[in-house]
Amino acid sequence: MNEKIDQLNRRFAGAAPSEILSWSATEYSGKITFSSSLGAEDQAITHILAMNNLDIPVFTLDTGRIFQETFDLLHVTEEKYRIRIAVYFPDASRVEKMVGQNGINLFYDSVENRKLCCQIRKIEPLKRALHGMSVWVTGLRREQSVTRKGTGLIEWDPVHRLIKVNPLLNWTHDVLWEYIRKNNIPVNELHRKGYPSIGCIPCTRAIGPGEDTRAGRWWWELSQLKECGLHPYKK
Ligand code: ADX
Ligand code: SF4
Repeated sequence: MNEKIDQLNRRFAGAAPSEILSWSATEYSGKITFSSSLGAEDQAITHILAMNNLDIPVFTLDTGRIFQETFDLLHVTEEKYRIRIAVYFPDASRVEKMVGQNGINLFYDSVENRKLCCQIRKIEPLKRALHGMSVWVTGLRREQSVTRKGTGLIEWDPVHRLIKVNPLLNWTHDVLWEYIRKNNIPVNELHRKGYPSIGCIPCTRAIGPGEDTRAGRWWWELSQLKECGLHPYKK
């Protein structure tokens, strides 16, 4: 598998995201899915899929704690592109048990609790969404964080045992936003209000000038290596 992935990375180095997505859609038809958090990167990918009529179904994870603005964007996106985005929810009984034992805002109490919450509200539903798939498309960009520097354009995900395709990996912030503006792609209202990276309400805040784009995620945690576990940190 590693040899095949190396080959694909060589083949698609410098290729446009639409080219990578087009090839993946055909090669892995019925076995490929795209996770969208409705973030700016994800909106660009949804646009590319729709404009090129690519058969890659889109899903999102509703943790139960996301912003109204994100729901509004989900609706606008479905209308604009005439698609249905599958919404995955956490297992209600597991959420009830976690909240019963640790309280509704457990994530502020310890990193351990925060990871438990992400595990139950995000990682488990993600597992269900990826079940039976061979390829997982994401909107990761290398520039987003030190934790994402080692990410590949196409890589093997040993946790979910599938190929992960990150077509925007090499896009810079400016390239992304130029593409969004030029193509009139709908984006989350919160970006205008200082939120470059948007997750759950209690774990996301606006950032100030000069702050790192992910500084508003789990801002009370000190580590530079903040990830919720969807995309484990690889050196
Ligand atoms: S996170 O791990 O810190 O939450 P981030 O918000 O940067 O991730 O998003 C990176 C990629 O992870 C997105 O482009 C998307 O593919 C996936 N992702 C993150 N959150 C979600 C979500 N709620 N639903 C679906 N996909 C998501
Ligand atoms: Fe829970 Fe916060 Fe993780 Fe959302 S980001 S799942 S609220 S800990």
